[in-house]
Amino acid sequence: MGKALDGVRILDFTHVQSGPTCTQLLAWFGADVIKVERAGAGDITREQLRDVAGADSLYFTMLNHNKRSVTIDTKNPEGKLVLEALIQKCDVLVENFAPGALDRMGFTWERIQELNPRMIVASVKGFGPGPYEDCKVYENVAQCVGGAASTTGFDDGPPVVTGAQIGDSGTGLHLALGIVTALYQRTMTGRGQKVLAAMQDGVLNLCRVKLRDQQRLERTGVMKEYPQYPNGTFGEAVPRAGNASGGGQPGWILKCKGWEHDPNAYIYFITQAPVWVKICNVIGREEWATHPDYATPDARLPRLKEIFAEVERWTMTKTKFEAMEILNEHDIPCGPILSMKEIAEDESLRKTGTIVEVDHPVRGKYLTVGNPIKLSDSPTDVKRSPLLGEHTDEVMAELGYSREQIDALRAAGAI
Ligand code: COA
Repeated sequence: MGKALDGVRILDFTHVQSGPTCTQLLAWFGADVIKVERAGAGDITREQLRDVAGADSLYFTMLNHNKRSVTIDTKNPEGKLVLEALIQKCDVLVENFAPGALDRMGFTWERIQELNPRMIVASVKGFGPGPYEDCKVYENVAQCVGGAASTTGFDDGPPVVTGAQIGDSGTGLHLALGIVTALYQRTMTGRGQKVLAAMQDGVLNLCRVKLRDQQRLERTGVMKEYPQYPNGTFGEAVPRAGNASGGGQPGWILKCKGWEHDPNAYIYFITQAPVWVKICNVIGREEWATHPDYATPDARLPRLKEIFAEVERWTMTKTKFEAMEILNEHDIPCGPILSMKEIAEDESLRKTGTIVEVDHPVRGKYLTVGNPIKLSDSPTDVKRSPLLGEHTDEVMAELGYSREQIDALRAAGAI
């Protein structure tokens, strides 16, 4: 079976996490992704957080599946010529260098357009145009400047960053969408274009409910589903909401049986209005179904703490999985707090290809996330990440270089 992006060639100039997330997705959809790395060094993550001596780190392997690796010194004049040949051959150049690095290398938008007017140039940067456009940015910086950190955590504690890599992997996802959209537009215009996904913008896009709440707060001075209501105070900006739900159905994390020794013996419980009567029945508070203080969502808002405490009295008598089973029988939305260990061992996630075991010639077998987006006509087949420069000769030959030329370029340090 063919793949959705068969025939699309990506010149992958990305490193670390944000850009590689994007190009890995494109590779999973069938694009030929040629990762350009510096000879001898490669993507810095190959050696970061290593767990097996001498093997590419999991940080690298889990972000670079299904790609080919070529080494080119793009600051060497002969190396530049190889890169030019690649630019002429490829459809998309993806990069996430620090601002200005591509220009300093001599590959400005104008120069790239001269070489290949159909080329799409896609970039991740920390910030869009503005006062911070020249700044380098990593994941947690993006979370802080995109509104996630100020709205995450508890009211009485400092801002908190989340474990979900919304700045890096989140922006990579945004960029991938921009690229396929530009490819689609090119089928009509015949022209390439620039695609920019700024990490601050990507994080803010994922935090939009907090921008919604900022405006609600300014209009009404209060947000009744937040834990600060009714006894706490609200300031000028959206406060940290603990584990409150970001939607219109109040929720909270509740203890389950074993919480005293298991840090993940908890469940997320949602007091969804349509199943309120069932909730009352399950927890043994049948009278709340009709009592005027509890029967309607509005009446419940000032009493959420008391209600969750009562539900917790029930969840503490069940394990998180028992609670999940019982609540689901009644259509009550909830979710057990799963540890990474439980997720890694989850057979159903392996069956769907969401978690995949991969064999690597140096590190052996390891687990990785597979493609989270499933296309029925373009299934993903996860292949191991390339060794540094593993495909240099192969790609050079495809570009028309002879054996002698390849050897000479290598001797000159250009590849
Ligand atoms: N041959 C020769 N030189 C190469 C090369 C190659 N194949 N590949 C990269 N380089 C050079 C670049 O030209 C640059 O040189 P310059 O500084 O002289 O212009 C240099 O390597 C370093 O690139 P840079 O991107 O500045 O790396 P860094 O390690 O200093 O910074 C980041 C890393 C992530 C902070 C920075 O790249 C960045 O802010 N990127 C944009 C935002 C982003 O994606 N952040 C998230 C990362 S997960």
